[in-house]
Amino acid sequence: MTTPAESLQKVFKTLSDPTRIRILRLLEQEELIVGELMDILGMAQSRVSRHLAVLRETGLLADRRDGTFVAYHMILPEEGQWHDAWTLARESLASDPMSERDDTLLRRALAARKSSSGRNFFDSVGPEWDALRRVFGDDLLRARATTMLVQPGLRVADIGTGTGVLALELADLGLDVVGIDRSEAMLEAARQKWRALEQGKSGSVEFRVADAHDLPLESNSVDAAFAHMVLHSLEEPSRAVAEMARIVKPGGQVILVDFMLHDHVWMKQELGLLWLGFAPDTLTEWLDAAGLERPRITQHDPDSTRDLPASFVAVSRKPETSAS
Ligand SMILES: C[S@@+](CC[C@H](N)C(=O)[O-])C[C@H]1O[C@@H](n2cnc3c(N)ncnc32)[C@H](O)[C@@H]1O
Repeated sequence: MTTPAESLQKVFKTLSDPTRIRILRLLEQEELIVGELMDILGMAQSRVSRHLAVLRETGLLADRRDGTFVAYHMILPEEGQWHDAWTLARESLASDPMSERDDTLLRRALAARKSSSGRNFFDSVGPEWDALRRVFGDDLLRARATTMLVQPGLRVADIGTGTGVLALELADLGLDVVGIDRSEAMLEAARQKWRALEQGKSGSVEFRVADAHDLPLESNSVDAAFAHMVLHSLEEPSRAVAEMARIVKPGGQVILVDFMLHDHVWMKQELGLLWLGFAPDTLTEWLDAAGLERPRITQHDPDSTRDLPASFVAVSRKPETSAS
């Protein structure tokens, strides 16, 4: 147990350092963060932090997390050795030139805080923001925000839907989706996923067994038709493109996603691909022959750590005047 003499010695030892007295004077008047103390005292962070660590041990400091900062202030006991010693120190220093200087700089720091609250932080962070902002983990939210542009209630077809990955995402956006595939096994997996998710979904999904070369949908009946990683599995992709163009309403879109032309022959053997990707000219030719407008084709390179072909997204609109 500490004797009264020992604790008094600790009080005087703490107060024997002029910087610690200055810090206490400031924190008694205002709650401050380390950066503000550095500015007022004209000292480096390491020095200020070292003194704060000593003061924290006395129990005189309280701290509060404020966003990414910690703000400190002094709490003086209402009686006892610290109360008496500090009252004496405060009164003795009231007219000290250093105290006057500190008070002037304190007022300036508070004025700066007021005029730039919020701005200061971002100004100082600048280019490091992208690393810091990971804390928000908002990739999904951003994707959702973007998709708010999609008008709910649109009817779309997902050709070669497989296990319905894209179809379910589209339904989640509030769209009414018909997913077509010739594999009953794939569609059963898709239906199971949908049943597990269905509650609370705003859109709808219907899965139908059919061939992409001969779609069981009426002409001009959907707002968009997607074929996601399907063309390379088809015997006659140009015919499937023509079918997609047929079922889309005038003004609607055909959206194709697949590999660019490549030479990864192993994909034929191991993944059953019939086509090693497609050249933009070939796609443009097929879409044009199907009566669609010139496509917008974007190329997407694979992750550099993976030896995979580049992919494309091709978007083509059916002219408003089209009657097919
Ligand atoms: C590589 S998977 C892609 C599935 C899905 N679109 C995706 O991205 O996960 C190709 C799908 O096309 C289907 N498929 C292949 N030939 C087809 C055809 N002639 N008509 C309809 N579907 C076909 C397959 O059953 C398979 O589900």
